Amino acid sequence: MPMAMSSIFTITLLAWFINIPWTSSANQEAKVFMVLMEDEPVVMMSSLRGSEDIAMYKRRMTQEHDVFLQSVLQEGSYVKLYSYTHLLNGFAIHAKGEEVIDVLRRAGRVSGAWPALGGSTAAGEGVVIGLVDTGINPFHPSFATQTSIGPGRPVFTQGSKFKGTCAAGERFSASACNGKIVGAQYFARAAVAAGEFNTTRDYASPFDADASTAAGNHHIPVIANNFNYGYASGMAPGARIAAYKALYSFGGYMSDVVAAVDQAVEDGVDVLSLSIGPGKVPSGPCAFLNILELELLFATKAGVLVVQAVGNGGPSSSSILSFSPWITSVAASITDRKYNNSLTLGNGQRLLGTGLAPPTFGGVYFPVAAAADVCRKNFTTGLMESCQNADPFIHALARGKLIICMYTFDFESEAASISNVAATAQKIGAAGFILTMDPDIGSEQIKGSTVTLQVPGIILNNMESSTALWEYYNSNTIRSRSGDALFFRARARILDGRRATYAGRAPVVASYSSRGPDVNNAILEAADVLKPNIMAPGSSIWAAWSPNSEGDVYTKGQSFALLSGTSMATPHIAGIAALIKQKHRHWSPAATTSAMMTTADLLDHSGGPILAQHKNRLAPATPFDFGAGSVNPSRAIDPGLVFDAYFKNYLQFLCAVPGVDDMSIRRAVGVGCPAKRKEWCSDLNAASVTVSNLVGSRKVKRRVTNVADADEKYTVTVREPAGVKVRVTPEAFKISVNASRFIRLHLEATQRTNVYTFGEMVLRGSKNHVVRVPIAVYVSSSIGRS
Ligand SMILES: *[C@@H]1O[C@H](CO)[C@@H](O)[C@H](O)[C@H]1NC(C)=O
Ligand SMILES: *[C@@H]1O[C@H](CO)[C@@H](O)[C@H](O)[C@H]1NC(C)=O
Ligand SMILES: *[C@@H]1O[C@H](CO)[C@@H](O)[C@H](O)[C@H]1NC(C)=O
Ligand SMILES: *[C@@H]1O[C@H](CO)[C@@H](O)[C@H](O)[C@H]1NC(C)=O
Repeated sequence: MPMAMSSIFTITLLAWFINIPWTSSANQEAKVFMVLMEDEPVVMMSSLRGSEDIAMYKRRMTQEHDVFLQSVLQEGSYVKLYSYTHLLNGFAIHAKGEEVIDVLRRAGRVSGAWPALGGSTAAGEGVVIGLVDTGINPFHPSFATQTSIGPGRPVFTQGSKFKGTCAAGERFSASACNGKIVGAQYFARAAVAAGEFNTTRDYASPFDADASTAAGNHHIPVIANNFNYGYASGMAPGARIAAYKALYSFGGYMSDVVAAVDQAVEDGVDVLSLSIGPGKVPSGPCAFLNILELELLFATKAGVLVVQAVGNGGPSSSSILSFSPWITSVAASITDRKYNNSLTLGNGQRLLGTGLAPPTFGGVYFPVAAAADVCRKNFTTGLMESCQNADPFIHALARGKLIICMYTFDFESEAASISNVAATAQKIGAAGFILTMDPDIGSEQIKGSTVTLQVPGIILNNMESSTALWEYYNSNTIRSRSGDALFFRARARILDGRRATYAGRAPVVASYSSRGPDVNNAILEAADVLKPNIMAPGSSIWAAWSPNSEGDVYTKGQSFALLSGTSMATPHIAGIAALIKQKHRHWSPAATTSAMMTTADLLDHSGGPILAQHKNRLAPATPFDFGAGSVNPSRAIDPGLVFDAYFKNYLQFLCAVPGVDDMSIRRAVGVGCPAKRKEWCSDLNAASVTVSNLVGSRKVKRRVTNVADADEKYTVTVREPAGVKVRVTPEAFKISVNASRFIRLHLEATQRTNVYTFGEMVLRGSKNHVVRVPIAVYVSSSIGRS
């Protein structure tokens, strides 16, 4: 997914958020369908006692799926891929033709059927983070066994409820589960059935590249192309990792992802990190009732905190692809660590650029030559200009020079790459390369500009530098009448681009990070839910990478890669959640999320408000850009108060979604709405207040619980959103350890705004806890019900 980035910011290229469409691609005859059955899955059966009961119940459900399928579909017309039994009672089948879905819907006992083919689109000791992702590389130092790294830590299995397994397979032996990696499985039946699984490229095993930002070991040197870029540590280096591979080189299938989540929760992971989401808002009256959201609701019910990337569809409004209030949706920030570089010209001019490459040799100046001027004439210009191949070059002419190459459309389509430019420069014996921008493309997004290189090189990622270089070059190159270059008098040298500089304001919301407001459905009706929830660093993150990964030409062969995207921010939050879990084992997922949200930072390093990148401008960030703010791990483990919520609260929330009836809830969730229904979705006890359609006035209730280890006195203040008067009661209260109490907000519209306006409620404790709650309100009318 391309990302618009202004060149003055950190260079960003790899969008690592994988979208999985819900609807089938029409060109495929056979399709994958997911079907939910009416009987309860294992997690809903409190009467099951012991593992034998559970195993028997699972067998019975699986048999029922088979019997049901045999009774409604013709033998041989379908293949069952999965029976889901833990979180969901249902199955996935691969069958021919769309009419299967009608047959299944008409048949009794089915509670829902979805076409599910996602075509190819392409310190937390004792806590287990489940990564539903592209797999893991067990040979990577970030995932090496604990005992070989630090002083002896206990082997994991003691007293743990985790019971995951390690699936052996290609490049992955069962011994790869080394105590750091405690589980590894892969889910590919839908991908295989659809004929997209390529055994040489996709590895029929849990093996692959994976990001180590969540729980990578502590202080592992980041060495890429023989240069030490520093040290990397996971956010929760003591936490263990269980990998559930469900994504492949071509993307993935929703039914494989659903199977991976089912297994992860059954295995007993504490935190689930998802760098995936649907390709668009799911169809139907309620986005929160699609099969993945439902499954994640059941995971939350089982006590598993689900962390999901918001998507890389920003900066447009309502571009989020993570919807439900039980999920912690993560936005991405850029940090102040930047890798820039300079090209110094013979006339003393200094041109700014970027490129993770070494400097030219010895601090001396080298002659500069445009690729076309040192190539044979019988090649097409495009091929020469983009320096993808050494063949056109006249080696004797190119040797020892800095070669100017052009960033053409071929780079955008990934037919050309910066790695190839570097390889060409090396082959022809050039002193280095200079990549200039094509004015037709501009310099908004440079694909591959964060690849680490071994050859001196610079990417002039802005038109000013590119133009200045060409002017200097043309006025210092002597040509014959026919235009051939005869004398190369332009001189330049490239500085070292591998050293980070720390400059500029940070954190800043990355332009690619998807934005709120959240929506109820595909027709984009605004929801009373704040999304994103929280922000973490996501741009130019050094992540563990597998040298065998086929995923991207730029990072092939490397152990670390500099990656950007909301999926880089997601494991960061998963790691912090693991730290909180370690300290507070009994906290619910909602309490953990609340702790991160109410303690988040709103100010950046300069002391000013955190800014957000928009198309070509910066503006103070709103909760729709970064949720409650930028995560602050040290404060998040001691939040003072939390806003807690459980399954029954989410059920009440679902029953209040406009257009959702009791029957659809019963079908999806297995239980009906409570007799006394809540009127508004804004009543869910979230650590935020969102009212998407304020007519007149509305009462909003919240319940806080003191999770500190002492009684505390709090005072409550409110910064009102424009156009809204907010009264809060009580304005001060004392709360004992472990006690809960209500706080009531009365929102009254004073003026029709027709845009969202933002404010906050702040609870200040006598023992220094500060609990912030963002408020977002859209006033549709200032008169109406009160
Ligand atoms: C599978 O992947 C390999 C390696 O990338 C490639 O050479 C081959 O053509 C692929 N096969 C198919 C059927 O796409
Ligand atoms: C990177 O940018 C900073 C600030 O503009 C500058 O001081 C530094 O010299 C630059 N580094 C290189 C290698 O050009
Ligand atoms: C270009 O010309 C050179 C000789 O001048 C020849 O060796 C080479 O094969 C030619 N290449 C093409 C693609 O025609
Ligand atoms: C508060 O609750 C925690 C967890 O249930 C418990 O360990 C602690 O003893 C309680 N403290 C008080 C003062 O009741």
